[in-house]
Amino acid sequence: MKRSRVRVEISPSILAANFASLEREIHAAEAGGARQIHVDVMDGHFVPNLTVGVPVVTSIRPVTTVPIEVHLMIDNPGSFIDRFAHAGADRIYVHQEATPHLDRVLNAIRERGLEAGVAINPSTPPSLLEEVLDLVSAVLVMSVNPGFGGQRFIPRSLAKIRELAEMRSRYNGGYRIAVDGGVELENVAEIVRAGADILIAGTCVFHSPDPTVAARQLLERAQEALAVKV
Ligand code: DX5
Ligand code: ZN
Repeated sequence: MKRSRVRVEISPSILAANFASLEREIHAAEAGGARQIHVDVMDGHFVPNLTVGVPVVTSIRPVTTVPIEVHLMIDNPGSFIDRFAHAGADRIYVHQEATPHLDRVLNAIRERGLEAGVAINPSTPPSLLEEVLDLVSAVLVMSVNPGFGGQRFIPRSLAKIRELAEMRSRYNGGYRIAVDGGVELENVAEIVRAGADILIAGTCVFHSPDPTVAARQLLERAQEALAVKV
């Protein structure tokens, strides 16, 4: 049956970009059809890696017109909402596992006029999100264990995407489903057919010889997969 639902989008993760040429890398992804940019923030505690923070969001905000989504992989995310909001984030994802006060933090994001997103690790079931689904514009399914780019997609993630798509029908389609980690040309069709509509991709876009071509191919393959009757 042909599906009709929200348009599928790609969200290139700058984690895999060359940070010495960030403006050029972002423009290359935009030229390939990216309508948002994904920024991975890691603190060395919630995940075993360190990346970038508020100053990078502040720096890229003026060089792109597309929304910036910030994926907080940090402990105590509530204490950074103001700073990322001020830096120009449009959506902030908070991990369900990172705070016992998820409702409070998601509401804090919304009160600042931003879109709130919630992310879940591979070991976290979607059912744990039921009480907050009406607060979020997007649910992010981690399809690798967070902390590093370039990992392999965990196949079990497809079942979680399907479950969230089924739950969405009870929330009047009120949230989008993002998938993050190991998204590539070879698996994007089954990912979007499972119900994902935001495709976060780092390695497959920025480690390719031409990020514009790679972003466009990923988007087109996703759109084709949805257009084909399944
Ligand atoms: C991993 C990050 C992802 C990651 C995706 O913890 O949240 O955004 O960078 O990168 P690839 O596409 O390389 O898996
Ligand atoms: Zn991410």
